[in-house]
Amino acid sequence: MPRSAVAIALPPLEFEAVRDHLAEAGYDAILVRDALELKTLLRSRDDIKVAILDGETDFDATLEMYSHLHEGDRDIAALLLMPPLALGRMDIGGKGYIKDEYFTRPYSAESLRWRIEAMVIRVENVSAEFTTEGVMDADLQGPAERPAADGLVSDEASSERKRGKIIIVFNPKGGVGKTTISINLGAALQIRKRQRVLLVDCDTLTGHIALSLGLESPRTLARAWREAAKSGKEESIAQIAAVHNSGLSVLRLASSPLHTEILEPTRVVNLIMAARDSYDWLVLDMHPDYGPLNQALFSQADRILVPVTPDVPCIRAAVQFREVAVELNIRDRLTMVINRFNSGVAASDVQRVVALSALARVRSAGMLFVRASDEGKSAVERFPDSKVVGDIETLAERLMAGVDADDSLGGGLAPRERIRGSFKGLFDRLTAQVS
Ligand SMILES: Nc1ncnc2c1ncn2[C@@H]1O[C@H](COP(=O)(O)OP(=O)(O)O)[C@@H](O)[C@H]1O
Ligand SMILES: [Mg+2]
Repeated sequence: MPRSAVAIALPPLEFEAVRDHLAEAGYDAILVRDALELKTLLRSRDDIKVAILDGETDFDATLEMYSHLHEGDRDIAALLLMPPLALGRMDIGGKGYIKDEYFTRPYSAESLRWRIEAMVIRVENVSAEFTTEGVMDADLQGPAERPAADGLVSDEASSERKRGKIIIVFNPKGGVGKTTISINLGAALQIRKRQRVLLVDCDTLTGHIALSLGLESPRTLARAWREAAKSGKEESIAQIAAVHNSGLSVLRLASSPLHTEILEPTRVVNLIMAARDSYDWLVLDMHPDYGPLNQALFSQADRILVPVTPDVPCIRAAVQFREVAVELNIRDRLTMVINRFNSGVAASDVQRVVALSALARVRSAGMLFVRASDEGKSAVERFPDSKVVGDIETLAERLMAGVDADDSLGGGLAPRERIRGSFKGLFDRLTAQVS
């Protein structure tokens, strides 16, 4: 059963090449030879998600087809082939209306497949209320106000003092590198940058930070709080946390997925907020869910790093999280870390699809992380000269410098002016000239 359909108005030979790649990705590719065929097709099927239009071979026909894509309530994304010169003159250079994209000849059929894949993911994930200005504004708005969660310790009194930054590492998909990046980012900041780091394993279900760092059953927050309930003596995180021989402080919330009721979200968040006085960086490795604890932690994070591996399921998960983040009003704190970047889609494409900028990339390192954790070490200690540790160190440096994005990766979000000059407006101007 095809996932969705793509209408393609390309010359037959080009169509065939593109169709084969799209079929591999599970899409139904349908050839349309003229505007009338497209019109008829759109009346008979409602699963057409994207149309590839050839504005180079026949521009007038393309304009007509484009109008069919937007007839009445219909709003189908277009991937438009344009002559390079026209793109330059129009000053849209591939970034126009949020849903439309552009490409030029020569192109590879395989690269079109990834563009289509990316567009369909966006079309499916961008909910109706965000399809036009909503997304642009959400993408471009300034830092959101932090919601004042009830019962949380006020920040105001000690805002003068230097306080540690809370870095959350999260993606709703498992196996994408959250724990690996948390451990090694923490180690790089602690060992290489001489920062005071607290690494918190907030994954009470599958967390394995302590194990990876060779810490045998360290005291957990849940246990410390149960003891406090009996003794009446509350301890700080610095007293509860274990210290790894690299100097890294490690706190595990619970050792068993059962009996975690004591970890009341507001109380956990307050304790972590208080620990900002004792550490420069608090790196939180999360369980992939949107439960109350995670939401409470998100609301207080300074940065949320989203590891994304360049494959479709992971990209989909990141798009979902970006949408959720808009709702939670934390969208402006998200930045991606492209993990295993040398194995799949280009960084610029990942950024364009997910509509988040990337702060750094981490290469695929074979078994190196596994070997380090078998010895109870971070890769930063065990393989200090490896390239992947260099990638992690770069990430640490960018966080310390307060950088938002790595501009060299390309494909970041379009500046406001460019997005404002949307293809829709351009299309209106062009049709006015033609008719
Ligand atoms: N860049 C990488 N190179 C090689 N292996 C990696 C890389 N990132 C993650 N891994 C491996 O992938 C697996 C899943 O990573 P993990 O950090 O546990 O993911 P998550 O915490 O998101 O579930 C682990 O075995 C880890 O060693
Ligand atoms: Mg994990």
